[in-house]
Order: sequence, then structure tokens, then C-alpha cells
Amino acid sequence: MATLSSDLRIDIDRLSDRLAALAEIGAIEGTEGCARLALTDEDKVGRDLVVSWMRDLDLTITVDSIGNVVGVMGGEHDGQPVMTGSHIDTVRTGGRYDGNLGVLAGLEVIETLRAAGITPPRGLAVAFFTDEEGARFPPDMLGSLVYVGGMGVEEAHAIEGIDGATVGGELDRIGYLGPAPLPAPAPHAFVELHVEQGPVLEAEELTIGAVTGVQGISWTEVSVTGQSNHAGTTPMALRKDPAVVAFRTAAFVRELADELGAPQVATVGRMHLHPNLVNVVPATAEFTIDLRHTDNDVLLDAERRTLEFLLEAAAAEGCTVTTKSLARFDPVEFDDAVVACVEQTALTQGHTVRRMPSGAGHDAQMLARVCPTGMIFVPSVNGLSHNPAEYTSPADLEAGANVLLQVMLELAAT
Ligand code: GLV
Ligand code: MN
Ligand code: MN
Repeated sequence: MATLSSDLRIDIDRLSDRLAALAEIGAIEGTEGCARLALTDEDKVGRDLVVSWMRDLDLTITVDSIGNVVGVMGGEHDGQPVMTGSHIDTVRTGGRYDGNLGVLAGLEVIETLRAAGITPPRGLAVAFFTDEEGARFPPDMLGSLVYVGGMGVEEAHAIEGIDGATVGGELDRIGYLGPAPLPAPAPHAFVELHVEQGPVLEAEELTIGAVTGVQGISWTEVSVTGQSNHAGTTPMALRKDPAVVAFRTAAFVRELADELGAPQVATVGRMHLHPNLVNVVPATAEFTIDLRHTDNDVLLDAERRTLEFLLEAAAAEGCTVTTKSLARFDPVEFDDAVVACVEQTALTQGHTVRRMPSGAGHDAQMLARVCPTGMIFVPSVNGLSHNPAEYTSPADLEAGANVLLQVMLELAAT
């Protein structure tokens, strides 16, 4: 008797084995996590492994000129496929689930269908997008941004990373400067499975998040210049200390977020003092500010107040300031019908579910510009992510991948 599509279930052991194999590449010793910054040697080895799995599944594989890789399983007709996917680059202290889960669960969905001999009416695609993290080459979601036409390829290739390398140079070096045209044709729909990376699902003892959208993101790089001098001889009143401007601004954004309340968040995640010596008043301070909120007006206000404070703090210290926007994305709302489909599928499969916004940036927020889009979240233990200790239980991974399977089949039914 033929298997009913609604009875199909993914194989959690196969999915966990692939997650573990990918996590061996760039593994951080003594932890479960990995470091595969975008377009590094480690990223290349990870890409090659995932592409080999796509080949094993007999997918039609394309690589575009920003290095996004898409594998397609044909459907009964040749309309645009339903796409899933995410990213396989990580931050330098990453976990094994962030992004990787969405890509490998997509492969698992296709392997499950292949094993059952089921061809959906519409084709299914699994993508991994370049440089979702933006940790080496800002902005985040770079590959999916270019995929949907939000940035031109030449501009993207010219982006310089934190180590001075360029996106175009590194794509060429690792062999992922592909020929597929950009912007790409819009998929029929897009749905991404991802770990929540926050504490909500675990705290509420829920299994599935039906993601309603992604909050706005603002990244700024700040350079402050003062005057380098002797730490022992320079009276406090005569100093032009850029580090003080940096520390005061870092404290200010924390207080601002506390004052505005959730969901406002604010982070100073990177800071560099020069010459960075114990007995020298620094000459320069360079640091980043990450502000996020679901309401664009609140985010704009937080940006304005932060800049105002920074300029005042610099003037008070006799320092000069330059700022550069590294990323600025408005909040995004996902498609009602896709959100409802995720929610209903989770309930039908017997899971607890809630609607929720995403605090992290995701490739889905870029795809939402061109097609109906949604996301599925599964719980993150202790709300930890961008940390090698990131963990999601096999039971929750399985639940999320099974919801993904049925949502993709539903979206591909016509
Ligand atoms: C990227 O994934 C981010 O949310 O920082
Ligand atoms: Mn991610
Ligand atoms: Mn991430």
C-alpha cells in the first residue's frame, strides 16, 4: 500500500549524523561547537560536504556569483519550486545547529520523500546562502540579500572583511564564484527551520514556534580618534582618550535598552583599542553597535539617541568620530498563510506551538521580499546561541523537521 504523505516522518538519526559530520569541520576543541566563518577554508570544506550530499540525492545543483548553492528535486510540473534552506557559515564561536539545521533538515525532507517514492506536484529546493552571519563580511544575510536583488553583485564582491579580504576574492579562492544569474527567480514559497536561539520556547515548555517576522537590525561601526600619550604623566584633564568615549557609549546603549524595555536590545560586540598597551592612552578606539527592535520607529529613535550621545561624549573628551553603517534592515512580517500553515501543521502533529517574532536575523527575511515566506523555530536549551554550547534535543529537532516536511508538501501541493 502506498504511504500517505501525511504519515511520512523524517529519520532523526540520519539528520543527527549529518549535523555531527558537518560540525566536525572547524570543530572547536573541547566543545560541541564550530568555527566556519564565511568563505574561509573551513567554510569551503563544509560547502563541499553539503554539495556531496546534494549530489547523493541526485539534486540539480546551481551555484551563483555570490556563492549561494541551491539543490532542486524536480516535481510533477515545472513551476517554481518551494524552497527551504538557511546557512552553513557560523560565527567564530558558533554552535552546530544555527543555520546548519535548516539546510540539513531540507536534505532530510528530500531523502524522506525519495525513500517513499513520492514526487510532489511542485519541485522542492534546498539552499544554503553565503555569509548569513555577517561576522566576517557585513552585512548579515549577504547571500540571500543579493539573491533577491537587494544588493548588486559587484557591490557585494567589493565588501572588505574584518581581516581585509574581499568577498569576491574569497569566493574565487574557494571555488564558489558560480555562473547562476542574480537576482535569482523567486521561489513559489520559502520556509526555513531554525533553532530559536533565545529562551522563550523552553521557558514556556513549547516545542514549535510559528515565526511571525524578524525584528529590525541596525549595525554601526564607530571609529574614535584621540591623542596617544603617556599613562603615567598625562594629567586626567588633558587627556583625549577614545577608549573612554567607547566605554561610555557601550554603557549608554545598555541603559537605553533597559529604559526602552523589551524587545529593544543593544550590544557592543567588537572593540579594538590602538595601540592596546597597558601604559599608553589609546590613539583610537574602534567598536560596533548592534541595535534591534520589532518597531522601526523605536529603532530609529534608539539610533538617533545613540548617535547624539556618541557625538557629545566625543566632544567632551576632545576626540573626533566617524561612523559607518554595516547593516540596516527594517522589521519584516511573514506571510499570514505560511505562518498559519506552520501553526496548524504543528498542532496536527500533536505539538505545542506559539506564534512569535524572531530576535535573530535570518535568510527568510530576505526571501520574504520576493515570495510568501515563513519560519519554524525549535527550542534552544538555556536560550544559548552564538556559543559552542548551543543545544537542541533530538526530539525537538525531529519535531521541527517533520513540521518542515509537511509544510513544504502543503506549499508544493498546487
Ligand atoms: C545573524 O544571524 C544575526 O542575527 O546576528
Ligand atoms: Mn542562523
Ligand atoms: Mn547566527
